[in-house]
Amino acid sequence: MKIINVTDYEDMSRKAANIISAQVILNEESVLGLATGSTVIGIYRQLIEWYKKGDINFSKVRTINLDEYIGLVPTNEQSYRYYMNSNFFNHINIPMENTFLPNGLASDIKRECESYDHIINKLGGIDLLLLGLGLNGHIGFNEPDDSFENKTHCVKLSKSTINANAHFFKNNEVQPNMAITMGIKNIMQAKRIVLCVCGKKKSSILKRILYGSVTPQVPGSILQLHPNFTVIADREAMQLLK
Ligand code: GLP
Repeated sequence: MKIINVTDYEDMSRKAANIISAQVILNEESVLGLATGSTVIGIYRQLIEWYKKGDINFSKVRTINLDEYIGLVPTNEQSYRYYMNSNFFNHINIPMENTFLPNGLASDIKRECESYDHIINKLGGIDLLLLGLGLNGHIGFNEPDDSFENKTHCVKLSKSTINANAHFFKNNEVQPNMAITMGIKNIMQAKRIVLCVCGKKKSSILKRILYGSVTPQVPGSILQLHPNFTVIADREAMQLLK
Protein backbone atom coordinates (compact mmCIF):
# COMPACT_ATOMS: atom_id res chain seq x y z
CA MET A 1 0.00 0.00 0.00
CA LYS A 2 1.28 3.42 -0.93
CA ILE A 3 -0.11 6.55 0.71
CA ILE A 4 0.26 9.88 -1.07
CA ASN A 5 -0.36 12.79 1.28
CA VAL A 6 -1.79 15.86 -0.42
CA THR A 7 -2.77 19.26 0.91
CA ASP A 8 -6.32 19.63 -0.32
CA TYR A 9 -8.98 18.69 -2.88
CA GLU A 10 -7.23 20.44 -5.79
CA ASP A 11 -3.92 18.77 -4.99
CA MET A 12 -5.64 15.37 -4.72
CA SER A 13 -7.42 15.90 -8.04
CA ARG A 14 -4.22 16.85 -9.87
CA LYS A 15 -2.18 13.96 -8.46
CA ALA A 16 -4.88 11.38 -9.26
CA ALA A 17 -5.32 12.86 -12.75
CA ASN A 18 -1.55 12.62 -13.23
CA ILE A 19 -1.60 8.90 -12.44
CA ILE A 20 -4.56 8.30 -14.78
CA SER A 21 -3.00 10.33 -17.56
CA ALA A 22 0.31 8.44 -17.21
CA GLN A 23 -1.64 5.19 -17.48
CA VAL A 24 -3.34 6.34 -20.69
CA ILE A 25 -0.12 7.71 -22.19
CA LEU A 26 1.71 4.43 -21.50
CA ASN A 27 -1.17 2.34 -22.85
CA GLU A 28 -3.62 4.14 -25.14
CA GLU A 29 -5.95 1.14 -24.99
CA SER A 30 -6.18 1.13 -21.19
CA VAL A 31 -9.29 -0.09 -19.43
CA LEU A 32 -10.12 2.46 -16.73
CA GLY A 33 -12.50 1.58 -13.91
CA LEU A 34 -14.30 4.76 -12.89
CA ALA A 35 -16.21 6.10 -9.92
CA THR A 36 -18.82 8.79 -9.37
CA GLY A 37 -19.47 11.11 -6.40
CA SER A 38 -18.13 14.50 -5.32
CA THR A 39 -14.58 13.28 -4.61
CA VAL A 40 -13.70 12.44 -8.19
CA ILE A 41 -15.32 15.37 -10.08
CA GLY A 42 -12.14 17.47 -9.81
CA ILE A 43 -10.10 14.61 -11.30
CA TYR A 44 -12.35 14.50 -14.38
CA ARG A 45 -12.15 18.31 -14.66
CA GLN A 46 -8.35 18.13 -14.65
CA LEU A 47 -8.25 15.32 -17.22
CA ILE A 48 -10.57 17.32 -19.52
CA GLU A 49 -8.24 20.32 -19.23
CA TRP A 50 -5.21 18.25 -20.19
CA TYR A 51 -7.16 16.58 -23.02
CA LYS A 52 -8.04 20.04 -24.40
CA LYS A 53 -4.37 21.00 -24.28
CA GLY A 54 -3.61 17.94 -26.42
CA ASP A 55 -1.81 16.02 -23.69
CA ILE A 56 -4.07 12.95 -23.49
CA ASN A 57 -5.82 10.92 -26.17
CA PHE A 58 -8.85 8.90 -25.05
CA SER A 59 -9.85 7.59 -28.50
CA LYS A 60 -8.83 4.01 -27.72
CA VAL A 61 -9.51 3.98 -23.98
CA ARG A 62 -12.30 1.81 -22.59
CA THR A 63 -14.02 2.71 -19.32
CA ILE A 64 -16.14 0.64 -17.00
CA ASN A 65 -17.94 2.23 -14.08
CA LEU A 66 -18.38 0.73 -10.66
CA ASP A 67 -22.09 1.16 -10.20
CA GLU A 68 -25.46 2.61 -11.21
CA TYR A 69 -28.78 3.28 -9.48
CA ILE A 70 -31.69 1.01 -10.31
CA GLY A 71 -34.67 2.78 -11.88
CA LEU A 72 -33.18 6.02 -13.21
CA VAL A 73 -33.23 6.74 -16.94
CA PRO A 74 -29.84 7.83 -18.36
CA THR A 75 -31.23 11.33 -18.98
CA ASN A 76 -32.07 11.69 -15.28
CA GLU A 77 -29.47 14.08 -13.87
CA GLN A 78 -28.97 11.82 -10.85
CA SER A 79 -28.15 8.71 -12.84
CA TYR A 80 -24.49 7.80 -12.94
CA ARG A 81 -24.66 7.59 -16.75
CA TYR A 82 -25.71 11.26 -16.79
CA TYR A 83 -22.97 12.13 -14.29
CA MET A 84 -20.26 10.43 -16.37
CA ASN A 85 -21.43 11.94 -19.67
CA SER A 86 -21.80 15.45 -18.33
CA ASN A 87 -18.72 15.49 -16.07
CA PHE A 88 -16.32 13.61 -18.34
CA PHE A 89 -17.23 11.71 -21.50
CA ASN A 90 -18.95 14.58 -23.37
CA HIS A 91 -15.78 16.67 -23.07
CA ILE A 92 -13.16 14.19 -24.29
CA ASN A 93 -12.67 12.12 -27.46
CA ILE A 94 -13.73 8.76 -26.05
CA PRO A 95 -16.20 6.89 -28.29
CA MET A 96 -19.41 6.48 -26.24
CA GLU A 97 -19.55 2.79 -27.19
CA ASN A 98 -16.28 2.35 -25.26
CA THR A 99 -17.92 3.52 -22.02
CA PHE A 100 -19.75 1.01 -19.85
CA LEU A 101 -22.08 1.41 -16.88
CA PRO A 102 -24.57 -1.12 -15.53
CA ASN A 103 -28.05 -0.68 -16.99
CA GLY A 104 -30.23 0.20 -14.01
CA LEU A 105 -33.35 -0.11 -16.16
CA ALA A 106 -32.79 -3.73 -17.18
CA SER A 107 -35.92 -5.84 -16.81
CA ASP A 108 -33.84 -8.78 -15.62
CA ILE A 109 -31.36 -7.33 -13.09
CA LYS A 110 -29.73 -10.68 -12.36
CA ARG A 111 -28.97 -11.17 -16.03
CA GLU A 112 -27.70 -7.58 -16.28
CA CYS A 113 -25.25 -8.29 -13.44
CA GLU A 114 -24.00 -11.43 -15.17
CA SER A 115 -23.57 -9.59 -18.43
CA TYR A 116 -21.61 -6.82 -16.66
CA ASP A 117 -19.15 -9.41 -15.30
CA HIS A 118 -18.91 -10.73 -18.84
CA ILE A 119 -18.08 -7.23 -20.17
CA ILE A 120 -15.29 -6.82 -17.59
CA ASN A 121 -13.81 -10.16 -18.65
CA LYS A 122 -14.15 -9.38 -22.35
CA LEU A 123 -12.30 -6.11 -21.85
CA GLY A 124 -9.47 -8.14 -20.32
CA GLY A 125 -9.96 -6.78 -16.79
CA ILE A 126 -9.34 -3.32 -15.39
CA ASP A 127 -5.89 -1.74 -15.74
CA LEU A 128 -6.50 1.11 -13.31
CA LEU A 129 -9.49 1.48 -11.02
CA LEU A 130 -10.34 4.84 -9.48
CA LEU A 131 -12.25 4.59 -6.21
CA GLY A 132 -13.94 6.97 -3.79
CA LEU A 133 -14.87 5.96 -0.25
CA GLY A 134 -18.33 5.92 1.33
CA LEU A 135 -18.74 7.27 4.86
CA ASN A 136 -19.53 3.73 6.05
CA GLY A 137 -16.51 2.29 4.22
CA HIS A 138 -18.34 1.26 1.07
CA ILE A 139 -16.47 0.99 -2.22
CA GLY A 140 -18.59 1.13 -5.37
CA PHE A 141 -21.89 0.36 -3.72
CA ASN A 142 -20.57 -2.62 -1.72
CA GLU A 143 -22.26 -1.86 1.57
CA PRO A 144 -21.26 -3.25 5.00
CA ASP A 145 -22.47 -6.85 5.16
CA ASP A 146 -21.79 -10.23 6.75
CA SER A 147 -19.81 -11.43 3.75
CA PHE A 148 -18.06 -9.99 0.71
CA GLU A 149 -20.03 -10.23 -2.55
CA ASN A 150 -17.63 -11.19 -5.30
CA LYS A 151 -19.44 -10.45 -8.51
CA THR A 152 -21.60 -7.68 -9.91
CA HIS A 153 -24.81 -7.70 -7.90
CA CYS A 154 -27.91 -5.81 -6.92
CA VAL A 155 -27.70 -4.05 -3.56
CA LYS A 156 -30.10 -2.36 -1.18
CA LEU A 157 -28.46 0.90 -0.15
CA SER A 158 -27.91 1.57 3.55
CA LYS A 159 -29.49 4.54 5.35
CA SER A 160 -26.01 6.05 5.75
CA THR A 161 -25.38 5.95 1.99
CA ILE A 162 -28.83 7.28 1.12
CA ASN A 163 -28.32 10.18 3.56
CA ALA A 164 -24.79 10.87 2.32
CA ASN A 165 -25.99 11.10 -1.30
CA ALA A 166 -29.24 12.97 -0.55
CA HIS A 167 -27.63 16.33 -1.36
CA PHE A 168 -27.41 15.35 -5.04
CA PHE A 169 -31.22 15.02 -5.21
CA LYS A 170 -33.61 17.97 -5.32
CA ASN A 171 -36.61 18.00 -2.95
CA ASN A 172 -39.12 16.54 -5.39
CA GLU A 173 -36.79 13.92 -6.86
CA VAL A 174 -37.16 10.29 -5.90
CA GLN A 175 -33.90 8.90 -4.53
CA PRO A 176 -33.40 5.24 -5.44
CA ASN A 177 -32.64 2.81 -2.64
CA MET A 178 -31.33 0.05 -4.91
CA ALA A 179 -28.29 -0.11 -7.15
CA ILE A 180 -26.14 -2.43 -9.24
CA THR A 181 -22.49 -2.55 -8.26
CA MET A 182 -19.34 -4.40 -9.20
CA GLY A 183 -18.45 -6.89 -6.50
CA ILE A 184 -15.36 -7.09 -4.35
CA LYS A 185 -13.66 -9.66 -6.58
CA ASN A 186 -14.24 -7.47 -9.65
CA ILE A 187 -12.60 -4.62 -7.73
CA MET A 188 -9.73 -6.65 -6.29
CA GLN A 189 -8.89 -8.09 -9.72
CA ALA A 190 -8.07 -4.60 -11.05
CA LYS A 191 -4.35 -4.46 -11.80
CA ARG A 192 -3.97 -1.17 -9.98
CA ILE A 193 -6.28 0.67 -7.56
CA VAL A 194 -6.20 4.38 -6.71
CA LEU A 195 -8.44 5.41 -3.80
CA CYS A 196 -9.10 9.13 -3.34
CA VAL A 197 -10.28 10.45 0.01
CA CYS A 198 -10.69 13.97 1.24
CA GLY A 199 -12.26 15.86 4.11
CA LYS A 200 -12.46 15.56 7.89
CA LYS A 201 -15.65 13.53 7.81
CA LYS A 202 -13.84 10.63 6.10
CA SER A 203 -10.89 10.58 8.56
CA SER A 204 -12.16 7.90 10.94
CA ILE A 205 -13.35 5.55 8.18
CA LEU A 206 -10.06 6.06 6.32
CA LYS A 207 -8.16 4.95 9.42
CA ARG A 208 -10.41 1.90 9.76
CA ILE A 209 -10.06 0.77 6.17
CA LEU A 210 -6.27 1.20 6.13
CA TYR A 211 -5.34 -0.12 9.58
CA GLY A 212 -8.41 -1.85 11.01
CA SER A 213 -9.40 -5.50 10.60
CA VAL A 214 -10.23 -6.71 7.13
CA THR A 215 -13.95 -7.34 7.37
CA PRO A 216 -17.04 -7.17 5.13
CA GLN A 217 -18.51 -4.81 7.75
CA VAL A 218 -15.97 -2.26 6.46
CA PRO A 219 -15.84 -3.20 2.76
CA GLY A 220 -12.93 -0.88 1.86
CA SER A 221 -10.72 -2.73 4.38
CA ILE A 222 -10.21 -5.46 1.75
CA LEU A 223 -8.04 -3.00 -0.19
CA GLN A 224 -5.24 -3.63 2.35
CA LEU A 225 -4.75 -6.96 0.60
CA HIS A 226 -4.41 -5.54 -2.92
CA PRO A 227 -0.84 -5.78 -4.30
CA ASN A 228 -0.93 -2.43 -6.15
CA PHE A 229 -3.02 -0.12 -4.01
CA THR A 230 -2.46 3.65 -3.78
CA VAL A 231 -4.33 6.03 -1.50
CA ILE A 232 -4.36 9.75 -2.22
CA ALA A 233 -5.69 11.54 0.84
CA ASP A 234 -5.72 15.17 1.90
CA ARG A 235 -4.58 16.57 5.23
CA GLU A 236 -8.06 16.57 6.75
CA ALA A 237 -8.74 12.94 5.82
CA MET A 238 -5.31 11.96 7.17
CA GLN A 239 -5.65 13.76 10.49
CA LEU A 240 -6.12 10.58 12.57
CA LEU A 241 -3.25 8.79 10.87
CA LYS A 242 -0.36 10.94 11.99
C1 GLP B 1 -21.11 6.86 -3.74
C2 GLP B 1 -20.63 6.00 -4.92
C3 GLP B 1 -19.20 5.60 -4.75
C4 GLP B 1 -18.46 6.82 -4.29
C5 GLP B 1 -18.82 7.10 -2.84
C6 GLP B 1 -18.24 8.39 -2.28
O1 GLP B 1 -22.25 6.41 -3.12
N1 GLP B 1 -21.41 4.84 -5.20
O2 GLP B 1 -18.68 5.07 -5.95
O3 GLP B 1 -17.07 6.60 -4.34
O4 GLP B 1 -20.20 6.98 -2.65
O5 GLP B 1 -18.95 9.50 -2.69
P1 GLP B 1 -18.43 10.99 -2.44
O6 GLP B 1 -17.20 11.14 -3.25
O7 GLP B 1 -19.55 11.86 -2.97
O8 GLP B 1 -18.19 11.14 -0.98
